[in-house]
Formats: sequence, structure tokens, C-alpha cells
Amino acid sequence: MTSRATIPPLLLFLFFICAAVAQVPTAYEILQEYDLPVGLLPTNVTVYTLNRETGEFHVNLGENCTFKNDGYEVKYKPMISGVIRKGKVTKLKGVSVKVMLFWVQIVAAIRDEGEVDFSVGMLKAGIDIEAFEESPQCGCGFNCVASEGKGKVSNILDWSM
Ligand SMILES: *[C@@H]1O[C@H](CO)[C@@H](O)[C@H](O)[C@H]1NC(C)=O
Ligand SMILES: *[C@@H]1O[C@H](CO)[C@@H](O)[C@H](O)[C@H]1NC(C)=O
Repeated sequence: MTSRATIPPLLLFLFFICAAVAQVPTAYEILQEYDLPVGLLPTNVTVYTLNRETGEFHVNLGENCTFKNDGYEVKYKPMISGVIRKGKVTKLKGVSVKVMLFWVQIVAAIRDEGEVDFSVGMLKAGIDIEAFEESPQCGCGFNCVASEGKGKVSNILDWSM
């Protein structure tokens, strides 16, 4: 009798624990919620904060994160910030890309249908959204499992006004 009576409260308690855990989405889930691909952030995200009213966010990667692709070289600082809205990140701070010989800050990433347009101020370049289906790893980027020979999407950055 007594043991039967104790089960439901325990289940209820577990249910609330699970619900509480489920309510904290990962930074990658936040990106998806805002219609952006997870590959915009490297795999190292440890903590993030997001103000849902203003869209202001801070993402902590714990360390500098650099990787090279066929077409470009990217650098994330240990702490990046910006403002996220449906389909775009603006006022981005802490992410730079090498253009020719220079490192320039990426200030915005804006989804344009099947592409993500990266803006470095005056110039912007679009990359197929499929290139960001997975998060890059610091160091080896999107090509960590090179031997897998996965169909890769071209990600050459072609900057234009
Ligand atoms: C970041 O990821 C790399 C490779 O995935 C790993 O070696 C490194 O320890 C990670 N750093 C942190 C701070 O999690
Ligand atoms: C990241 O890199 C900058 C400059 O290259 C350096 O000053 C800083 O100490 C590095 N931070 C960490 C956490 O490694």
C-alpha cells in the first residue's frame, strides 16, 4: 500500500527534473530556433547567455578557436557576442576571417534562403547553407574526418560589394 502511494510523487518529481533540464536549450538549438545553421558555431561552446528581448548574446568557447577551410581561414575569440534575430546575427564581435593577407572582423551573418551571407563591413560573401550542417571543430574545422569523403559543399568565399 505505502509503496504504491510513493511512486506517483516520485514520478512527478522526475518529470519536473526532466522538464527543467529540457528547458535550457544548447547554443546550437538556439541557432536552429532562429533559423540559422548550427555550423556557425564551433563545437566548443561551453556557456552562453541570451537576452531574448533584445537578442543580445555572449558565447564562451573557452579558448581561441582557429580553423582553415579550402576557401578561408577563420578565428573565434574565446568570447564572442552579438545580436541574434530570426535568420540573422548582427553586431558580431570576436569572429574574424582572413581576406587576402588581412584578418577582418565578420560583423554579420545573414540567412538569405539557401545561403548565409557573411559581412565584413563593405564586403560580403555568401556560402551555401549546407556547408554549415555540422559545427566545425577548432583546429581541423569541417574536415576533421577527411577520410570519410563526405560530399562537401564548396565554401570558397567570393567577396563582393
Ligand atoms: C575544444 O575542442 C577541441 C577539439 O574538439 C579540444 O581539443 C579542446 O580541448 C576543446 N576545448 C575546450 C575548452 O573545450
Ligand atoms: C587568445 O589569443 C590572443 C591573441 O592571439 C591572446 O592574447 C589570448 O591570451 C588568447 N586567449 C586564450 C584564452 O588563449
